[in-house]
Amino acid sequence: MKILITGALGMLAHAVIDELKDENELICTDSKELDITNEEKVLEKVSNINPEYIINCAAYTAVDKAEEEKELAEKVNSIGPKNLAKASKKIDCPLIHISTDYVFNGEKNVNESYKEEEAVAPVTIYGKTKAEGEKNIQENCDKYYIFRTAWLYGEGNNFVRTMLKLGKEKEEINVVADQHGSPTYAVDLARIIKQAINKKIPYGIYHTTNQGFTTWYDFTKKIFELANISCKVNPVTSEQFIRPAKRPQNSKLSKEKILNQGIEIPDWEDALKRYIVKEIK
Ligand SMILES: NC(=O)c1ccc[n+]([C@@H]2O[C@H](COP(=O)([O-])OP(=O)(O)OC[C@H]3O[C@@H](n4cnc5c(N)ncnc54)[C@H](OP(=O)(O)O)[C@@H]3O)[C@@H](O)[C@H]2O)c1
Repeated sequence: MKILITGALGMLAHAVIDELKDENELICTDSKELDITNEEKVLEKVSNINPEYIINCAAYTAVDKAEEEKELAEKVNSIGPKNLAKASKKIDCPLIHISTDYVFNGEKNVNESYKEEEAVAPVTIYGKTKAEGEKNIQENCDKYYIFRTAWLYGEGNNFVRTMLKLGKEKEEINVVADQHGSPTYAVDLARIIKQAINKKIPYGIYHTTNQGFTTWYDFTKKIFELANISCKVNPVTSEQFIRPAKRPQNSKLSKEKILNQGIEIPDWEDALKRYIVKEIK
């Protein structure tokens, strides 16, 4: 299958390319080769390549910086997906797009998880621009998958790598213990995307994180346990750890809808074990 991948130098793109490259013809474009905010170029490129799928891995992902760079975040996360949706509709090709738990306000009771059909209510610039991107896709094409994920880690700089480094340098570390969600290994998300394509599941929005829920505090403790790091982890509250963009208290995404399609998703602890074995080799 011929598949166009945008934002090809990003963390998720790396895993997607790795997962799909053997069985498909991948056309991988970085931001220089295809700036998704340029409507004309997007239409021209998509029409010339005429892919069977477009996977949009491009995004503005600097959550805190977005509070100051609203225009750029909006262009990449809202206008970019709109351009891709229009182009995909023109050639009748499904668009696969990645979104985030930040489209919700995170204020739901932490014993519950968010379902796909719940109304979005973003509170940060990043979340607002990602929610606009989702809407733009829904309004401009019919054949789309929007895969919402959260707490992504994989190739390159990420939370796990940072903790492995800090854990070796420090005797103790403070980590937020009142934010709940699912760490998600980019490799596993790429495998979910691959299964969705192969199974031709119905178009729509799906929640796609690793299985199971935890907090950043318990996640960090597990990272240190698996890597044999003795650094002490102190639980702190969100109020003790103020960031420019408010973090959601509840990032739990229900996976019921995608699991009902027969898609297999590993547990976050299993994913973390696989990642750490690779990372500390
Ligand atoms: N990371 C997370 O924790 C997380 C959580 C939930 C959801 N997500 C979503 O998951 C997806 C993948 O995230 P990621 O962590 O893999 O992102 P990433 O590593 O930041 O990669 C994003 C890529 O997009 C490219 N890009 C930026 N502007 C572009 C433009 N105008 N045209 C084309 N490419 C452009 C960037 O290239 P340049 O560097 O050249 O600009 C970068 O290579 C995103 O949709 C993100 O919103 C991520």
